[in-house]
Amino acid sequence: MFHESKGKYTPQAHVGIPEGTYEDEHGRNGFYGRVSHLYHKNPPTGWSKIDGKCRPQAFNIIELAQNKDPWQPGFLLENRDVKIGFMKPKENSTCPYFFRNADGDNVYFIHKGEGTIETDFGPLKYSRGDYLVIPKGTTIRFSTGSSEQKYLVVESRAEVNLPEKGLLGKHALFDIANLETPKPEAHEDKGTFELKIKRQNEMTTVTYPFHPLDVVGWKGDLSVVKINIKDFRPVGSHRYHLAPSVHSTFVGSGFVVCSFVPRPFETDSEATRVPFYHRNIDCDEVIFYHDGDFFSRKNMGAGMVTFHPFGIHHGPHPKAAETAKSKTMTNEYAVMVDTYQPLSPTSDATKCEWVDYWQTWKE
Ligand SMILES: [Fe+2]
Repeated sequence: MFHESKGKYTPQAHVGIPEGTYEDEHGRNGFYGRVSHLYHKNPPTGWSKIDGKCRPQAFNIIELAQNKDPWQPGFLLENRDVKIGFMKPKENSTCPYFFRNADGDNVYFIHKGEGTIETDFGPLKYSRGDYLVIPKGTTIRFSTGSSEQKYLVVESRAEVNLPEKGLLGKHALFDIANLETPKPEAHEDKGTFELKIKRQNEMTTVTYPFHPLDVVGWKGDLSVVKINIKDFRPVGSHRYHLAPSVHSTFVGSGFVVCSFVPRPFETDSEATRVPFYHRNIDCDEVIFYHDGDFFSRKNMGAGMVTFHPFGIHHGPHPKAAETAKSKTMTNEYAVMVDTYQPLSPTSDATKCEWVDYWQTWKE
C-alpha cells in the first residue's frame, strides 16, 4: 500500500534504536504481514493498572488440579482450532484403556518423565524433551516409567504438519531424518480390550475380544512421529534479532508451535538482544517454560505458562536487556504456541493463575 518513515526512527528494525526510545513492532499476520515500527518514549508495558480481560496472564500449571482421568489432559486455553492443556499420568502404570482421538491430532511434549507409547504403527519409547505427534484417529496407549510424569498437550482440530523451510532449505531447523516412527509389533492376545474414542468431546467405549494393536506392517507417510527438542537447531543472525517465527517446529490450521532452544546472542553492538515489544495484532501467544534460565522473563520457572493475548503489549522485562549484555548464549528451552483466533482461558486455568503476573514489568 505504502511505506513511510516519519519522525525519529531507525531504518533497520531492531538495530540502532534511537536513544531514549522503546521499539514496538506493530505488525499483522504474526511476523509476516504489513508492519510499522513505533518508537515510544516509555516502555509500552509500563502500565500502572489493567481492568478487564485483555491482560498478560501466567499459569503455574504444575499446580493444575489432576484431571479426573489422569490419562486425559486438563485444558487451560482453547479456541476453535486448538486446545492447550497438561496431563499428569501416574508413574509406573499403564493406561487401563486404548485411546483414539477423533477430534484432532495431538502433540504431546514430555516436560518430565518417560515411558512407552503403543500405537497402531508400533511402540515408541519416549523421554524428557520429546515431542510425540499423534495423527487424528490413531489408537494409542501410554505406559509410564518410574519418574514423575508431566506432559504438555496440544490438540489440533486440523492436521499437524511441518513448516515450509523456504530460503533455509529443507534440512534446516531439523532434518526430517530425525523424525522417529514406530516399527510394528503385532499383539495376538485374546481377552477383553477396551478402546475409548473421543469424538466431539464425548467418549465412546468399544470392546474387542482381541488386542486392538494387531498391525503386522505399515507403509506410507502418515504415522506417529517423535523428535526431541534438543534435535532442533535454531537459526540466528549475529547482526539482527530474528522474529520468533524462525523457530517454527510444527504448524496446524490456525496455529504454529515453536521451539526455543539455546542459541548465541547477537554480537553486533547495535543489534537488539532481547525480544522487541509487540502487541501481536493477529496472534495470541502461549509459552510453556520447559527448562533453563528464561532470560527475558522475571521470576519465571520451569513448568509455567504465559498467555499474551493480542491487543495488549508484551516484551522483555525491564532488567532483561541488562542481563543479556553479560551473556553469550541463551540457556532456555521453551515451547510456544501462537494462535490466529483468540484463546479463552478455562476455569481450570483460572485456578492456577499467577494473578500478579501483569505487574511483573514494573522495575
Ligand atoms: Fe511475542
